Amino acid sequence: VLAENAKRVVAEFDFHTEALQKAVDEFRREMDEGLHKDGTELSQIPTYVTGVPNGTEKGLYMAVDLGGTNFRVCSVQLHGNSTFSITRSKTAVPLELMEAKTSEELFAFLAKQIEAFLKEHHDEHYTTYKHRKSIGSATDEEIFSLGFTFSFPVHQIGINKGLLMRWTKGFDIQDTVGKDVCALLQAELDKLHLPVRVAALVNDTVGTLMARSYTSPGKTRTLLGAIFGTGTNGAYVEKLDRITKLANKKDAGDYDKSTGEMVVNTEWGSFDNSLRTLPNNPYDVELDRNSNNPGIQMFEKRISGMFLGELYRLALLNLLNLHDPRNPFYVSESREEYGSVSTKSRVSKDSPIFKQWGLDTSFLSICAGDNSTNLRVIRQTLDTEYSIQDVSIDDAKAFRDIAAAVGRRAARLSAVAIAGIVLNSGMLEDESEEVIDIGVDGSLVEFYPGFEAYIREALREVPGIGEKGEKRIRIGIAKDGSGVGAALIALVAAGMAGAGA
Ligand code: BG6
Ligand code: GLC
Repeated sequence: VLAENAKRVVAEFDFHTEALQKAVDEFRREMDEGLHKDGTELSQIPTYVTGVPNGTEKGLYMAVDLGGTNFRVCSVQLHGNSTFSITRSKTAVPLELMEAKTSEELFAFLAKQIEAFLKEHHDEHYTTYKHRKSIGSATDEEIFSLGFTFSFPVHQIGINKGLLMRWTKGFDIQDTVGKDVCALLQAELDKLHLPVRVAALVNDTVGTLMARSYTSPGKTRTLLGAIFGTGTNGAYVEKLDRITKLANKKDAGDYDKSTGEMVVNTEWGSFDNSLRTLPNNPYDVELDRNSNNPGIQMFEKRISGMFLGELYRLALLNLLNLHDPRNPFYVSESREEYGSVSTKSRVSKDSPIFKQWGLDTSFLSICAGDNSTNLRVIRQTLDTEYSIQDVSIDDAKAFRDIAAAVGRRAARLSAVAIAGIVLNSGMLEDESEEVIDIGVDGSLVEFYPGFEAYIREALREVPGIGEKGEKRIRIGIAKDGSGVGAALIALVAAGMAGAGA
Protein backbone atom coordinates (compact mmCIF):
# COMPACT_ATOMS: atom_id res chain seq x y z
CA VAL A 1 0.00 0.00 0.00
CA LEU A 2 2.74 2.39 0.95
CA ALA A 3 4.66 1.94 -2.29
CA GLU A 4 1.49 2.63 -4.30
CA ASN A 5 0.72 5.66 -2.19
CA ALA A 6 4.28 6.90 -2.56
CA LYS A 7 4.02 6.78 -6.37
CA ARG A 8 0.83 8.80 -6.22
CA VAL A 9 2.33 11.42 -3.90
CA VAL A 10 5.49 11.68 -6.01
CA ALA A 11 3.33 12.30 -9.09
CA GLU A 12 1.53 15.09 -7.23
CA PHE A 13 4.86 16.95 -7.15
CA ASP A 14 5.40 16.66 -10.88
CA PHE A 15 6.28 19.84 -12.72
CA HIS A 16 6.69 18.67 -16.28
CA THR A 17 8.41 20.35 -19.20
CA GLU A 18 5.34 21.97 -20.68
CA ALA A 19 4.31 23.52 -17.35
CA LEU A 20 7.86 24.72 -16.83
CA GLN A 21 7.90 26.42 -20.22
CA LYS A 22 4.59 28.17 -19.56
CA ALA A 23 5.86 29.41 -16.20
CA VAL A 24 9.03 30.83 -17.81
CA ASP A 25 6.89 32.81 -20.28
CA GLU A 26 4.78 34.13 -17.42
CA PHE A 27 7.90 35.05 -15.42
CA ARG A 28 9.24 37.06 -18.36
CA ARG A 29 5.90 38.82 -18.76
CA GLU A 30 5.73 39.70 -15.06
CA MET A 31 9.32 40.97 -15.15
CA ASP A 32 8.43 43.45 -17.89
CA GLU A 33 5.19 44.46 -16.22
CA GLY A 34 6.98 45.14 -12.93
CA LEU A 35 9.46 47.47 -14.64
CA HIS A 36 6.59 49.65 -15.89
CA LYS A 37 4.36 50.03 -12.86
CA ASP A 38 4.05 49.53 -9.09
CA GLY A 39 1.78 47.06 -7.32
CA THR A 40 2.54 44.11 -9.62
CA GLU A 41 3.14 40.49 -8.58
CA LEU A 42 6.88 40.68 -9.26
CA SER A 43 7.70 43.90 -7.42
CA GLN A 44 10.86 44.65 -9.50
CA ILE A 45 12.18 47.12 -6.92
CA PRO A 46 14.81 49.61 -8.17
CA THR A 47 17.65 49.45 -5.62
CA TYR A 48 19.57 52.64 -6.48
CA VAL A 49 22.69 50.51 -6.85
CA THR A 50 23.95 51.54 -10.28
CA GLY A 51 27.29 49.81 -10.52
CA VAL A 52 28.80 46.48 -9.64
CA PRO A 53 32.29 46.23 -8.12
CA ASN A 54 35.36 44.98 -9.94
CA GLY A 55 37.49 43.83 -7.03
CA THR A 56 39.69 46.92 -6.64
CA GLU A 57 37.59 48.51 -3.89
CA LYS A 58 39.31 49.05 -0.49
CA GLY A 59 38.49 50.06 3.08
CA LEU A 60 36.97 49.03 6.42
CA TYR A 61 33.18 48.88 6.55
CA MET A 62 30.44 47.48 8.73
CA ALA A 63 27.49 45.38 7.64
CA VAL A 64 24.53 43.91 9.45
CA ASP A 65 22.05 41.42 8.14
CA LEU A 66 18.52 40.75 9.28
CA GLY A 67 17.60 37.73 7.21
CA GLY A 68 15.06 35.30 8.53
CA THR A 69 16.44 33.37 11.41
CA ASN A 70 19.62 35.18 12.42
CA PHE A 71 20.93 38.68 12.90
CA ARG A 72 24.50 38.91 11.70
CA VAL A 73 26.92 41.75 12.46
CA CYS A 74 30.28 42.05 10.73
CA SER A 75 33.10 44.33 9.78
CA VAL A 76 34.76 43.83 6.43
CA GLN A 77 38.24 44.87 5.38
CA LEU A 78 38.32 45.08 1.59
CA HIS A 79 41.89 44.59 0.37
CA GLY A 80 41.36 45.83 -3.19
CA ASN A 81 42.59 42.69 -4.95
CA SER A 82 39.30 40.75 -5.03
CA THR A 83 39.95 39.52 -1.49
CA PHE A 84 38.64 40.62 1.87
CA SER A 85 38.80 39.71 5.57
CA ILE A 86 35.69 39.56 7.64
CA THR A 87 34.98 39.52 11.39
CA ARG A 88 31.50 38.47 12.35
CA SER A 89 29.01 37.52 15.00
CA LYS A 90 25.60 35.90 14.76
CA THR A 91 22.60 35.87 17.11
CA ALA A 92 19.26 34.15 16.65
CA VAL A 93 16.40 36.65 16.57
CA PRO A 94 14.13 35.81 19.55
CA LEU A 95 10.80 34.51 18.27
CA GLU A 96 8.80 37.00 20.36
CA LEU A 97 10.58 39.91 18.64
CA MET A 98 9.51 38.62 15.21
CA GLU A 99 5.94 39.37 16.26
CA ALA A 100 6.62 42.31 18.60
CA LYS A 101 4.02 45.05 19.14
CA THR A 102 6.34 47.92 18.25
CA SER A 103 9.20 48.35 15.76
CA GLU A 104 11.31 49.84 18.54
CA GLU A 105 11.53 46.51 20.38
CA LEU A 106 13.09 44.80 17.36
CA PHE A 107 15.38 47.66 16.28
CA ALA A 108 16.62 48.31 19.84
CA PHE A 109 17.63 44.66 19.97
CA LEU A 110 19.55 45.04 16.70
CA ALA A 111 21.36 48.17 17.94
CA LYS A 112 22.38 46.36 21.14
CA GLN A 113 23.97 43.57 19.11
CA ILE A 114 25.93 46.17 17.10
CA GLU A 115 27.11 47.80 20.34
CA ALA A 116 28.27 44.42 21.69
CA PHE A 117 30.11 43.70 18.42
CA LEU A 118 31.95 47.03 18.50
CA LYS A 119 32.98 46.49 22.12
CA GLU A 120 34.27 43.03 21.35
CA HIS A 121 36.04 43.60 18.03
CA HIS A 122 36.72 47.33 17.64
CA ASP A 123 37.00 48.42 21.24
CA GLU A 124 39.87 50.83 20.76
CA HIS A 125 38.12 52.63 17.92
CA TYR A 126 34.87 52.72 19.90
CA THR A 127 36.44 53.99 23.15
CA THR A 128 38.51 56.62 21.37
CA TYR A 129 35.43 57.84 19.51
CA LYS A 130 33.42 58.07 22.72
CA HIS A 131 36.18 60.03 24.40
CA ARG A 132 36.62 62.43 21.48
CA LYS A 133 32.87 62.88 21.21
CA SER A 134 32.69 63.81 24.92
CA ILE A 135 35.29 66.55 24.39
CA GLY A 136 33.65 67.65 21.13
CA SER A 137 36.48 66.63 18.77
CA ALA A 138 35.04 63.55 17.03
CA THR A 139 35.00 63.75 13.22
CA ASP A 140 32.90 62.15 10.51
CA GLU A 141 35.84 60.03 9.39
CA GLU A 142 35.65 58.11 12.65
CA ILE A 143 32.13 56.96 11.93
CA PHE A 144 31.69 53.53 10.38
CA SER A 145 29.60 53.40 7.22
CA LEU A 146 27.22 50.52 7.62
CA GLY A 147 25.44 48.51 4.97
CA PHE A 148 22.11 47.30 6.32
CA THR A 149 21.03 44.06 4.71
CA PHE A 150 17.33 43.86 5.34
CA SER A 151 15.93 40.86 3.50
CA PHE A 152 12.29 41.82 3.15
CA PRO A 153 10.39 43.72 0.44
CA VAL A 154 11.08 47.43 0.82
CA HIS A 155 9.91 50.28 -1.38
CA GLN A 156 13.29 51.92 -1.81
CA ILE A 157 13.41 55.68 -2.32
CA GLY A 158 17.13 56.19 -1.99
CA ILE A 159 20.30 54.26 -1.28
CA ASN A 160 19.68 54.43 2.48
CA LYS A 161 15.98 55.01 2.62
CA GLY A 162 13.19 52.49 2.18
CA LEU A 163 9.68 51.84 3.45
CA LEU A 164 8.73 48.30 4.44
CA MET A 165 6.07 46.97 2.06
CA ARG A 166 5.23 43.77 3.93
CA TRP A 167 6.93 41.27 6.21
CA THR A 168 7.71 37.75 4.96
CA LYS A 169 9.26 34.56 6.41
CA GLY A 170 7.36 34.52 9.71
CA PHE A 171 7.94 38.15 10.80
CA ASP A 172 4.78 40.07 11.62
CA ILE A 173 5.14 43.50 13.25
CA GLN A 174 2.36 45.62 11.80
CA ASP A 175 3.80 48.81 13.29
CA THR A 176 6.80 48.66 10.92
CA VAL A 177 4.85 48.43 7.64
CA GLY A 178 5.20 51.72 5.72
CA LYS A 179 8.09 52.98 7.87
CA ASP A 180 11.69 53.72 6.82
CA VAL A 181 13.70 50.85 8.26
CA CYS A 182 17.03 52.71 8.01
CA ALA A 183 15.68 55.58 10.08
CA LEU A 184 14.36 53.10 12.65
CA LEU A 185 17.79 51.51 13.00
CA GLN A 186 19.64 54.84 13.01
CA ALA A 187 17.40 56.15 15.81
CA GLU A 188 18.30 53.18 18.02
CA LEU A 189 22.03 53.46 17.17
CA ASP A 190 21.95 57.15 18.10
CA LYS A 191 20.29 56.40 21.44
CA LEU A 192 23.37 54.30 22.26
CA HIS A 193 25.76 56.96 20.84
CA LEU A 194 27.44 54.48 18.50
CA PRO A 195 29.90 55.67 15.81
CA VAL A 196 27.83 54.13 13.03
CA ARG A 197 25.94 55.65 10.12
CA VAL A 198 23.46 53.57 8.13
CA ALA A 199 24.84 54.32 4.66
CA ALA A 200 23.03 51.78 2.52
CA LEU A 201 19.96 49.61 2.57
CA VAL A 202 20.54 46.28 0.88
CA ASN A 203 18.46 43.23 0.10
CA ASP A 204 20.38 39.97 0.69
CA THR A 205 20.10 39.12 -3.02
CA VAL A 206 21.68 42.46 -3.95
CA GLY A 207 24.47 41.79 -1.43
CA THR A 208 24.97 38.35 -2.94
CA LEU A 209 25.19 39.86 -6.44
CA MET A 210 27.76 42.44 -5.31
CA ALA A 211 29.83 39.90 -3.41
CA ARG A 212 29.89 37.53 -6.35
CA SER A 213 30.92 40.38 -8.69
CA TYR A 214 33.77 41.32 -6.35
CA THR A 215 35.16 37.81 -6.11
CA SER A 216 33.98 36.07 -9.29
CA PRO A 217 36.66 34.43 -11.39
CA GLY A 218 37.98 36.29 -14.42
CA LYS A 219 36.57 39.51 -15.74
CA THR A 220 33.04 38.19 -16.15
CA ARG A 221 30.34 40.40 -14.72
CA THR A 222 27.70 38.77 -12.61
CA LEU A 223 24.13 39.00 -13.92
CA LEU A 224 22.15 37.65 -10.98
CA GLY A 225 22.41 37.17 -7.22
CA ALA A 226 19.91 34.67 -5.83
CA ILE A 227 18.98 33.26 -2.43
CA PHE A 228 17.62 29.76 -1.95
CA GLY A 229 17.44 29.59 1.83
CA THR A 230 14.75 30.32 4.41
CA GLY A 231 13.20 32.43 1.66
CA THR A 232 13.95 32.76 -2.03
CA ASN A 233 14.54 35.81 -4.18
CA GLY A 234 16.83 37.26 -6.85
CA ALA A 235 18.34 40.59 -7.90
CA TYR A 236 19.82 41.28 -11.33
CA VAL A 237 21.43 44.01 -13.39
CA GLU A 238 18.87 45.81 -15.58
CA LYS A 239 19.25 48.53 -18.21
CA LEU A 240 18.14 51.86 -16.72
CA ASP A 241 16.02 52.80 -19.71
CA ARG A 242 13.95 49.65 -19.27
CA ILE A 243 12.99 50.60 -15.69
CA THR A 244 10.39 53.04 -16.96
CA LYS A 245 8.49 53.31 -13.68
CA LEU A 246 11.51 55.00 -12.08
CA ALA A 247 11.24 58.09 -14.29
CA ASN A 248 7.58 58.53 -13.33
CA LYS A 249 8.07 58.10 -9.58
CA LYS A 250 7.37 61.26 -7.63
CA ASP A 251 9.35 60.13 -4.59
CA ALA A 252 12.38 58.76 -6.50
CA GLY A 253 15.69 59.78 -4.95
CA ASP A 254 18.89 60.73 -6.83
CA TYR A 255 21.11 58.16 -8.48
CA ASP A 256 24.11 57.97 -10.75
CA LYS A 257 22.90 57.56 -14.34
CA SER A 258 26.33 57.24 -15.92
CA THR A 259 26.50 53.43 -15.96
CA GLY A 260 23.12 53.11 -17.70
CA GLU A 261 22.27 50.24 -15.36
CA MET A 262 20.64 49.58 -12.02
CA VAL A 263 20.28 46.49 -9.89
CA VAL A 264 16.64 45.43 -9.59
CA ASN A 265 15.35 43.37 -6.65
CA THR A 266 12.67 41.19 -8.23
CA GLU A 267 11.07 39.89 -4.96
CA TRP A 268 10.30 36.78 -6.98
CA GLY A 269 8.88 35.09 -3.87
CA SER A 270 5.60 36.65 -4.97
CA PHE A 271 5.86 35.54 -8.62
CA ASP A 272 2.48 34.37 -9.92
CA ASN A 273 0.57 34.80 -6.65
CA SER A 274 -2.57 34.39 -8.74
CA LEU A 275 -1.47 30.87 -9.75
CA ARG A 276 -1.74 31.28 -13.51
CA THR A 277 1.10 28.83 -14.06
CA LEU A 278 2.32 27.54 -10.68
CA PRO A 279 1.54 23.96 -9.66
CA ASN A 280 -0.97 23.74 -6.84
CA ASN A 281 -1.36 20.34 -5.21
CA PRO A 282 -3.44 19.61 -2.08
CA TYR A 283 -0.38 20.13 0.17
CA ASP A 284 0.32 23.55 -1.37
CA VAL A 285 -3.30 24.49 -0.73
CA GLU A 286 -3.22 23.36 2.87
CA LEU A 287 0.13 24.96 3.65
CA ASP A 288 -1.05 28.29 2.28
CA ARG A 289 -4.40 28.14 4.04
CA ASN A 290 -2.71 27.66 7.42
CA SER A 291 0.05 30.25 6.86
CA ASN A 292 0.05 33.78 8.32
CA ASN A 293 -0.09 35.33 4.82
CA PRO A 294 -2.45 33.28 2.58
CA GLY A 295 -2.27 34.12 -1.11
CA ILE A 296 1.10 35.85 -0.79
CA GLN A 297 4.66 34.60 -1.54
CA MET A 298 3.15 31.70 -3.49
CA PHE A 299 6.35 30.97 -5.46
CA GLU A 300 8.43 31.10 -2.26
CA LYS A 301 6.00 28.72 -0.53
CA ARG A 302 6.83 26.07 -3.15
CA ILE A 303 10.59 26.61 -3.13
CA SER A 304 12.22 27.81 0.04
CA GLY A 305 13.53 26.17 3.18
CA MET A 306 10.98 27.72 5.47
CA PHE A 307 8.19 25.85 3.66
CA LEU A 308 9.59 22.65 2.14
CA GLY A 309 9.68 20.84 5.49
CA GLU A 310 6.00 21.61 5.99
CA LEU A 311 5.07 20.51 2.45
CA TYR A 312 6.98 17.29 3.08
CA ARG A 313 5.18 16.79 6.39
CA LEU A 314 1.75 17.21 4.78
CA ALA A 315 2.70 14.83 1.97
CA LEU A 316 3.98 12.24 4.46
CA LEU A 317 0.78 12.41 6.49
CA ASN A 318 -1.12 11.67 3.33
CA LEU A 319 1.29 8.88 2.43
CA LEU A 320 0.95 7.20 5.80
CA ASN A 321 -2.81 7.40 5.42
CA LEU A 322 -3.08 6.45 9.05
CA HIS A 323 -6.78 5.68 8.91
CA ASP A 324 -6.31 2.89 6.36
CA PRO A 325 -6.23 -0.43 8.27
CA ARG A 326 -3.90 -1.88 5.61
CA ASN A 327 -1.25 0.74 6.18
CA PRO A 328 2.00 -0.46 7.72
CA PHE A 329 2.03 2.26 10.35
CA TYR A 330 0.36 2.18 13.71
CA VAL A 331 -0.21 5.30 15.81
CA SER A 332 0.41 4.64 19.47
CA GLU A 333 -0.68 6.65 22.48
CA SER A 334 2.55 6.04 24.31
CA ARG A 335 5.81 4.17 24.08
CA GLU A 336 4.56 1.59 26.64
CA GLU A 337 1.88 0.48 24.23
CA TYR A 338 4.51 -0.51 21.66
CA GLY A 339 4.87 -3.99 23.07
CA SER A 340 1.36 -4.98 22.03
CA VAL A 341 1.70 -4.45 18.28
CA SER A 342 4.76 -5.95 16.71
CA THR A 343 4.05 -6.22 12.99
CA LYS A 344 3.84 -2.54 12.20
CA SER A 345 6.03 0.56 12.29
CA ARG A 346 4.98 2.76 15.14
CA VAL A 347 4.30 6.48 15.12
CA SER A 348 3.99 7.99 18.56
CA LYS A 349 1.09 10.40 19.05
CA ASP A 350 3.66 13.02 20.15
CA SER A 351 5.64 12.76 16.93
CA PRO A 352 6.43 16.22 15.46
CA ILE A 353 4.94 14.86 12.24
CA PHE A 354 1.51 15.72 13.67
CA LYS A 355 2.39 19.37 14.38
CA GLN A 356 2.34 22.28 11.94
CA TRP A 357 5.97 23.18 11.01
CA GLY A 358 7.00 20.00 12.88
CA LEU A 359 9.43 18.83 10.19
CA ASP A 360 12.55 20.81 9.54
CA THR A 361 13.72 21.21 5.94
CA SER A 362 17.09 19.78 6.99
CA PHE A 363 15.23 16.46 7.41
CA LEU A 364 14.15 16.66 3.78
CA SER A 365 17.81 17.07 2.78
CA ILE A 366 18.76 14.10 4.96
CA CYS A 367 16.08 11.87 3.41
CA ALA A 368 16.78 12.93 -0.17
CA GLY A 369 20.50 12.36 0.24
CA ASP A 370 20.54 9.07 2.13
CA ASN A 371 22.92 6.68 0.36
CA SER A 372 23.60 4.52 3.40
CA THR A 373 23.10 0.77 3.37
CA ASN A 374 19.46 -0.11 3.95
CA LEU A 375 18.64 3.58 4.36
CA ARG A 376 19.97 3.40 7.89
CA VAL A 377 20.23 7.20 8.22
CA ILE A 378 16.56 7.83 7.40
CA ARG A 379 15.39 5.07 9.72
CA GLN A 380 17.61 6.22 12.55
CA THR A 381 16.58 9.86 12.21
CA LEU A 382 12.91 8.87 12.12
CA ASP A 383 13.45 6.95 15.32
CA THR A 384 15.48 9.45 17.33
CA GLU A 385 14.06 12.78 16.10
CA TYR A 386 10.54 11.97 15.01
CA SER A 387 9.39 9.11 17.28
CA ILE A 388 8.70 6.80 14.33
CA GLN A 389 10.06 3.33 15.06
CA ASP A 390 10.76 0.08 13.24
CA VAL A 391 10.37 1.46 9.73
CA SER A 392 11.04 -1.16 7.03
CA ILE A 393 13.53 -0.54 4.25
CA ASP A 394 10.75 -0.36 1.66
CA ASP A 395 8.90 2.21 3.71
CA ALA A 396 12.07 4.25 4.18
CA LYS A 397 12.39 4.26 0.37
CA ALA A 398 9.00 5.92 0.17
CA PHE A 399 10.24 8.66 2.54
CA ARG A 400 13.28 9.14 0.32
CA ASP A 401 11.35 9.27 -2.96
CA ILE A 402 8.93 11.87 -1.67
CA ALA A 403 11.76 14.01 -0.27
CA ALA A 404 13.37 13.85 -3.71
CA ALA A 405 10.11 14.83 -5.41
CA VAL A 406 9.53 17.87 -3.15
CA GLY A 407 13.12 19.06 -3.64
CA ARG A 408 13.18 18.39 -7.37
CA ARG A 409 10.02 20.42 -7.93
CA ALA A 410 11.48 23.27 -5.86
CA ALA A 411 14.64 23.26 -7.97
CA ARG A 412 12.68 23.12 -11.24
CA LEU A 413 10.64 26.11 -10.09
CA SER A 414 13.87 27.92 -9.19
CA ALA A 415 14.99 27.30 -12.77
CA VAL A 416 11.91 29.21 -13.98
CA ALA A 417 13.20 32.40 -12.36
CA ILE A 418 16.78 31.90 -13.51
CA ALA A 419 15.67 31.14 -17.06
CA GLY A 420 13.36 34.17 -17.17
CA ILE A 421 16.15 36.53 -16.11
CA VAL A 422 18.79 35.00 -18.39
CA LEU A 423 16.47 35.10 -21.42
CA ASN A 424 15.29 38.67 -20.77
CA SER A 425 18.90 39.87 -20.39
CA GLY A 426 19.58 38.98 -24.03
CA MET A 427 23.03 37.73 -23.00
CA LEU A 428 22.56 34.37 -24.70
CA GLU A 429 22.29 36.10 -28.07
CA ASP A 430 25.48 38.04 -27.39
CA GLU A 431 28.38 35.80 -28.43
CA SER A 432 30.92 38.10 -26.73
CA GLU A 433 29.43 37.16 -23.33
CA GLU A 434 30.85 33.69 -23.09
CA VAL A 435 29.81 32.98 -19.52
CA ILE A 436 26.65 34.09 -17.74
CA ASP A 437 27.59 34.30 -14.10
CA ILE A 438 25.15 33.76 -11.22
CA GLY A 439 25.93 34.01 -7.50
CA VAL A 440 23.80 31.98 -5.10
CA ASP A 441 23.56 31.56 -1.34
CA GLY A 442 21.27 30.01 1.26
CA SER A 443 20.89 26.78 3.18
CA LEU A 444 18.79 25.03 0.54
CA VAL A 445 21.20 25.37 -2.37
CA GLU A 446 24.06 24.64 0.00
CA PHE A 447 22.67 21.55 1.73
CA TYR A 448 19.91 19.97 -0.36
CA PRO A 449 21.67 17.26 -2.36
CA GLY A 450 21.70 17.84 -6.10
CA PHE A 451 19.72 21.10 -6.02
CA GLU A 452 21.89 22.67 -8.73
CA ALA A 453 21.81 19.51 -10.86
CA TYR A 454 17.98 19.61 -10.82
CA ILE A 455 18.07 23.31 -11.76
CA ARG A 456 20.35 22.54 -14.69
CA GLU A 457 18.20 19.65 -15.87
CA ALA A 458 15.24 22.05 -16.03
CA LEU A 459 17.23 24.84 -17.72
CA ARG A 460 18.06 22.47 -20.59
CA GLU A 461 14.32 21.96 -21.17
CA VAL A 462 13.64 25.68 -21.66
CA PRO A 463 13.34 26.77 -25.30
CA GLY A 464 15.94 29.44 -26.03
CA ILE A 465 18.35 27.99 -23.46
CA GLY A 466 18.70 24.27 -24.24
CA GLU A 467 21.90 22.30 -23.73
CA LYS A 468 24.07 24.96 -25.34
CA GLY A 469 22.75 27.82 -23.23
CA GLU A 470 22.79 25.83 -20.01
CA LYS A 471 26.52 25.19 -20.43
CA ARG A 472 27.19 28.92 -20.58
CA ILE A 473 25.47 29.54 -17.27
CA ARG A 474 27.92 29.44 -14.37
CA ILE A 475 26.42 29.12 -10.90
CA GLY A 476 28.72 29.77 -7.93
CA ILE A 477 28.14 29.98 -4.22
CA ALA A 478 28.70 33.48 -2.84
CA LYS A 479 28.99 32.59 0.82
CA ASP A 480 27.98 35.25 3.32
CA GLY A 481 27.25 37.49 0.41
CA SER A 482 25.38 39.99 2.43
CA GLY A 483 28.37 40.80 4.64
CA VAL A 484 30.85 41.78 1.96
CA GLY A 485 28.14 42.80 -0.51
CA ALA A 486 26.55 45.23 1.93
CA ALA A 487 29.99 46.60 2.80
CA LEU A 488 30.64 47.23 -0.91
CA ILE A 489 27.39 49.12 -1.28
CA ALA A 490 28.15 51.12 1.87
CA LEU A 491 31.45 51.99 0.22
CA VAL A 492 29.83 53.22 -2.96
CA ALA A 493 27.23 55.09 -0.90
CA ALA A 494 29.87 56.71 1.29
CA GLY A 495 31.22 57.98 -2.01
CA MET A 496 34.90 57.67 -1.15
CA ALA A 497 36.72 54.42 -1.78
CA GLY A 498 39.02 53.62 1.10
CA ALA A 499 37.35 55.84 3.66
CA GLY A 500 34.98 53.56 5.54
CA ALA A 501 36.22 54.26 9.05
C1 BG6 B 1 23.52 34.09 4.29
C2 BG6 B 1 23.53 35.55 3.88
O1 BG6 B 1 24.75 33.48 3.97
O2 BG6 B 1 22.47 33.43 3.63
C3 BG6 B 1 22.17 36.15 4.24
O3 BG6 B 1 24.56 36.23 4.54
C4 BG6 B 1 21.06 35.38 3.59
O4 BG6 B 1 22.11 37.48 3.82
C5 BG6 B 1 21.19 33.92 3.97
O5 BG6 B 1 19.79 35.90 3.99
C6 BG6 B 1 20.15 33.08 3.30
O6 BG6 B 1 20.23 31.77 3.76
P1 BG6 B 1 19.32 31.20 4.92
O7 BG6 B 1 19.37 29.76 4.67
O8 BG6 B 1 20.00 31.61 6.21
O9 BG6 B 1 17.99 31.84 4.77
C1 GLC C 1 12.01 36.75 1.22
C2 GLC C 1 12.14 38.26 1.26
C3 GLC C 1 13.22 38.75 0.30
C4 GLC C 1 14.51 37.99 0.56
C5 GLC C 1 14.29 36.49 0.49
C6 GLC C 1 15.54 35.68 0.76
O1 GLC C 1 11.52 36.39 -0.02
O2 GLC C 1 10.90 38.87 0.95
O3 GLC C 1 13.42 40.14 0.45
O4 GLC C 1 15.48 38.38 -0.38
O5 GLC C 1 13.28 36.12 1.42
O6 GLC C 1 16.05 35.89 2.04
